Amino acid sequence: PKGAGRGAGVAPRRRDQEGGGASPAGAPSSRCPAPCDVIRERRGPISGLGSNVAPLPIHKYRKKLVEAVRDCSFLIVTGETGSGKTTQLPKYLFEEGFAKHGVIGVTQPRRVATISVAQRVAEEMNCSLGSTVGYQVRFDDFTSEDTAIKYMTDGCLLRQILAEPHLAKYSIIVLDEAHERSLSTDILFGLLKKLFQQKKPPGRKKALKVVVMSATLEVDKLSEFFGHCLVVDIPGRNYPVKTMFCNLLGPKDAGNSAYAVKVTLDIHLNESAGDILVFLTGQSEIEKTCDLLFQKAESINYCYDVQDCSVEGLLILPLYGSMPTDQQRRIFLPPPPGIRKCVIATNIAATSLTIDGIRYLFPSLLKSCNLGDAREGCTGIEGCLTSVSSDLELSGRAGRTSPGKCYRLYSEEFWDQCMPEHTIPEIKRTSLTSVILTLKCLAVHDVIRFPYLDRPEERHILEALKQLYQCGAIDRKGHVTRLGELLVQFPLPPNLTCAVIKAAALDCEDLLLPIAAMLSVENVFIRPGEPQSQKEAELQHRELSLQLGGCNDFATLLNIFDECKSAPAWCQKHWIHWRALKSAFSVEAQLREITRKLKQLPDFPRETFDGSRNEILRRCLCAGYFTNVARRSMGRMFCTMDGHGSLVHIHPSSALYDQEPQLEWIIFHDILVTSKIYMRTVCPIRYEWVKDLLPKLHEVDAYELSSVAREEVTEEEMTKWKNKEDFRRQHDTSAKKVE
Ligand code: CDP
Ligand code: MG
Repeated sequence: PKGAGRGAGVAPRRRDQEGGGASPAGAPSSRCPAPCDVIRERRGPISGLGSNVAPLPIHKYRKKLVEAVRDCSFLIVTGETGSGKTTQLPKYLFEEGFAKHGVIGVTQPRRVATISVAQRVAEEMNCSLGSTVGYQVRFDDFTSEDTAIKYMTDGCLLRQILAEPHLAKYSIIVLDEAHERSLSTDILFGLLKKLFQQKKPPGRKKALKVVVMSATLEVDKLSEFFGHCLVVDIPGRNYPVKTMFCNLLGPKDAGNSAYAVKVTLDIHLNESAGDILVFLTGQSEIEKTCDLLFQKAESINYCYDVQDCSVEGLLILPLYGSMPTDQQRRIFLPPPPGIRKCVIATNIAATSLTIDGIRYLFPSLLKSCNLGDAREGCTGIEGCLTSVSSDLELSGRAGRTSPGKCYRLYSEEFWDQCMPEHTIPEIKRTSLTSVILTLKCLAVHDVIRFPYLDRPEERHILEALKQLYQCGAIDRKGHVTRLGELLVQFPLPPNLTCAVIKAAALDCEDLLLPIAAMLSVENVFIRPGEPQSQKEAELQHRELSLQLGGCNDFATLLNIFDECKSAPAWCQKHWIHWRALKSAFSVEAQLREITRKLKQLPDFPRETFDGSRNEILRRCLCAGYFTNVARRSMGRMFCTMDGHGSLVHIHPSSALYDQEPQLEWIIFHDILVTSKIYMRTVCPIRYEWVKDLLPKLHEVDAYELSSVAREEVTEEEMTKWKNKEDFRRQHDTSAKKVE
């Protein structure tokens, strides 16, 4: 039966959904009142939980799993996504008394999944979040004394190991979503394996147990790594999924929103009931696609008579890492009757989340990759090819409740010939600087022969050591310096932390902490999908940076932070994410607390300097970012000073984008590689400020570091270095060694 008026019920667009937007959260969009009311009604607590929980495949395996955990120190549990591993196993273990001797800690590679799963389990267990069930993610701790099941990001657990290497407060550590092979989970594999080779620490009543949970990928390798430990497999129940090769594009135009929209609408108009899940590469692409789909779906409804179709409306829901949790929860709710749900998600957010009712799946060819020290939540077009194994695993999701279809944009030949077999683990493609510093602080000096499940390339380890040496976190022998010990306290990349510490030493951390916070949250600048709004937003942002930043993108961030603190309405006018700003306020408060504690230490560095705020800010930035110095080369191009001499451009989003050629020296926060190599978040500096620091970039060579990394430094080699003039200089200036 036809509903009142038009058929297509389309979700309100993103700006309407934002808490700080023009309309309060949940207010109906002026463009499509009726369907939005439906969505609003559904925004309550999740109903019908019981019926959802009962038939999960894991239920039959409860006894077997509990016994296996009792008997083994290491256990691997595999099963397709959606079988109930993440939500159910920790609950079983709690009910069987495993939390009596300590907390059951469950790690997740993603923030989104951590929070959403903790919320779900708390609801299933009828307790408030933060009591029996809690979560901890970077900058957000939602646990209490009573917490017995603690979901946390793998990065959080890594930081806890730093403070407490034996993890005495935990009875069981569950390393979940092992198939994602995130950097921190990979490092935790090695650390926990090492932990078991040591003696049981005094004070621990029962030995720690480790459970690794994974989708059905590379299980043999994992089991072998943990001494051929027991593997319990939970067979899924899947309906067949038919693959449709659309043959629309090649790898270069992969992730194209227009194709995603076309295929989605085709499905919507031609296929029987069932929800759609579309994977795209990043937040901006998702937002753009949602907007486009919204417009198209709306216009189609005016042109087509969709009366014969069993589904009339399309409910469009975006899903990405930095979305507020109440919005994420809507993803799991069944759509209103007669409405088809279409979730448009990042791969990152979705590999560990299962959405019921999906029958049509649209995997993306690329998945977002964490390149270098890319900011959390900020996934641009940095993408790498997904793999055959993860793609197959993913496509299984279309057949959870009934037969499904999986649409691949490319051709079958491409799939056969070009797709890599397995996803490259993060450890093999990302910056290892923070992780190597963590290992060094945990007294793992031989970072090359550390038990890695997949060994990163030696040159990447050496690159990390070089960076740590350059910023003074380790000395020439590879030992952690006092500065390194301070750096590791901050959940920030080392160069940003160096700048913060420099500012704190000068008593002007007020200048740097907001910047560090702003660089740690999702991109604060809203990039709307619709061309007209996009232009308007770009204009606003440009004016902002020119007015506020005075041609220094870091200062722009600082000023936006200050400006918004007093007037939230200001954000909306200038196309700034209020929500991102709110997280930045909270991050800043936490960084401030860390800084306050460190400044109380008697050996915290102290310095004085006379100069304008502007100069102090830029000089503090130089203390950390001298590794990212570039000098004007030809025309608009700059040349990096890191020894690679790469030719780079200023990103168009920067206030310095079309500055006069007299601008010679700059530093930048990060690099974005698209058709060109772009520097983002840029600041002009003077050569004198980095003159003494730049030689550090060339002080050590790979040979020296490789022996340091292997701890094979011979006396003879040490003498050779000691004789070097530059070594002595470094030795004098580096902070006290910790040995
Ligand atoms: O970990 P695994 O993939 O094996 O399954 P799970 O995440 O424990 O999911 C079990 C069930 O809980 C699925 O039906 C999910 O849709 C549901 N779930 C949910 O409704 N909300 C969440 N935040 C997480 C899971
Ligand atoms: Mg899971």
